[in-house]
Amino acid sequence: MHTLTIDLGKRSYPIIIGSDLLSNADTFNPFVSGKVMVVTNDSIAPLYLDKTLAALHQHDTASVVLPDGEAYKQLNTLDAIFESLLKQRFDRGCTLVALGGGVIGDMTGFAAATYQRGVNFIQVPTTLLAQVDSSVGGKTGVNHTLGKNMIGAFHQPVAVVADMSTLSTLSDRELKAGLAEVIKHGFILDIKFFEWLENNIAALLARDEKATAYAVQRSCEIKAEIVAADEHERGVRALLNLGHTFGHAIESAMGYGNWLHGEAISAGMVMALDLSTRLGRITDGEQKRAVALLKAAGLPVQPPTSIDADTFLNYMYRDKKVIGGQLRLILLDKIGQAFVTDDVNIDQLMNTLTADYSSA
Ligand code: NAD
Ligand code: GLY
Repeated sequence: MHTLTIDLGKRSYPIIIGSDLLSNADTFNPFVSGKVMVVTNDSIAPLYLDKTLAALHQHDTASVVLPDGEAYKQLNTLDAIFESLLKQRFDRGCTLVALGGGVIGDMTGFAAATYQRGVNFIQVPTTLLAQVDSSVGGKTGVNHTLGKNMIGAFHQPVAVVADMSTLSTLSDRELKAGLAEVIKHGFILDIKFFEWLENNIAALLARDEKATAYAVQRSCEIKAEIVAADEHERGVRALLNLGHTFGHAIESAMGYGNWLHGEAISAGMVMALDLSTRLGRITDGEQKRAVALLKAAGLPVQPPTSIDADTFLNYMYRDKKVIGGQLRLILLDKIGQAFVTDDVNIDQLMNTLTADYSSA
């Protein structure tokens, strides 16, 4: 077991990474207050809900099971959580437990941020993507048909419990999607981690436990450092959005759930690498090397050809990083060093949006 801390003063919390954590009451007890509502979905419930409730047996517990899918990450679905909480008279001292991937984590976190103006919650991420990214840092929310993650709040959990054993039931496609966010951490901040990933991508795809544990730990360390420095994304935290302005446009335009978040982020990062190259910030060689890693991870490296430049721009200008109508993008200066720019040359951007990625 390995524990990291997100250092946010009084709101600091641990990320506990280990195996078979779910079945252990000691994992949860220090972080639980009041009644406990476990929120999960109908794919995860048959796998892990009983185990989690058993570990929480010393507490007054209930559960709510939502339909599975990114398409349900929306305001209407939240009502099922609020109805359960209200019907069972959960008060302000309660604890919500998000048992699932990023969709459950984001929705449960938002319910916790808003129920009776804010209650505690514990993140129990069960996908690689959620363990390396979405469960950490307190971004919560839901999608709108007009834009991804457009309604939400910053609300930090009281603990993150990343039980690596849950990854054994994850599909290969979801595992690869999680690798996109792992690789992102190497691209933006850590050339050594990028090189480690180049050497260990086959082991990660083969679900080697030691390699996976290191990838989760290193990703969480990188994210913990960034979140501690800039909780509300006024500066450096924006770097974690490499590829996201393009990627969120892909997810929204293709219909939520058709492209997995990690897949869209992979193609989005390829577009950010293309623009970085066009602007002379990285070399052709660096671009090819970075794309090769995404390819080796089995991730898409071409955006869907069905999205035209106007549609991309429409979604991109609704991005949360847009301030005063000014697009802000995350680009690379080199592998392991990202930067934020609002000085985007529109002609170069159009070239990126209309480029032929078929030989990538
Ligand atoms: P997801 O939550 O949809 O989970 C993927 C699929 O795997 C689902 O069908 C789920 O039911 C299933 N699943 C989950 N755990 C499983 C397990 N252990 N075994 C078998 N099946 C399992 O998708 P995700 O990739 O985890 O998360 C994507 C979401 O996270 C997106 O909505 C994205 O916007 C969000 N996100 C948020 C942040 C943040 O900082 N809050 C960061 C990155 C991504
Ligand atoms: N996933 C981006 C962030 O947490 O800031």
